[in-house]
Amino acid sequence: MAVRFVITWGDPRLKINSTDVAEWTPELERLVEDLLETGIEAEGVGIAAPQVGVNLNLAVIDPSSGQDPAQKIILINPEIIRSEGSQMGPEGCLSIPGIHEVLERPQKVWVKNRRRDGSWEELVGEDLLARAFCHEIDHLRGKLFVDYFGPVKRQILQRRYNKQRAED
Ligand code: NI
Repeated sequence: MAVRFVITWGDPRLKINSTDVAEWTPELERLVEDLLETGIEAEGVGIAAPQVGVNLNLAVIDPSSGQDPAQKIILINPEIIRSEGSQMGPEGCLSIPGIHEVLERPQKVWVKNRRRDGSWEELVGEDLLARAFCHEIDHLRGKLFVDYFGPVKRQILQRRYNKQRAED
């Protein structure tokens, strides 16, 4: 397992519509292990393959940040098939460190997800997990959470982000 380099806001690879995972391979298994390690290291709830420069429809979610293996979820070619309700809450992204903004998301989502062996399952997430599903699946479509805001707010966030980066 290795912590991989996380690409950040402004990198064109975060804007790509990723391609579906085909056959499961040892390389993909290693990528999943690395994503989990990278996410835990950065104290994130989830991380998607495009964030480490791999444009595949693959992401991991671990609401326990490595504390409880039972909570690990591997998303493969996931698709939101239904959503319900709404929630307001702060959202952040490992690719946009230091920026947390309140964003509306569905309260509950149903996800069609492929398992490693090629079979399909349906996952249901509420509250934080629903938010994580939406956020990670957006990454696979080339969308960041800041893309939900209008141009004015996005520009303000970008300026704040660039300023913080310059100070780091
Ligand atoms: Ni993110």
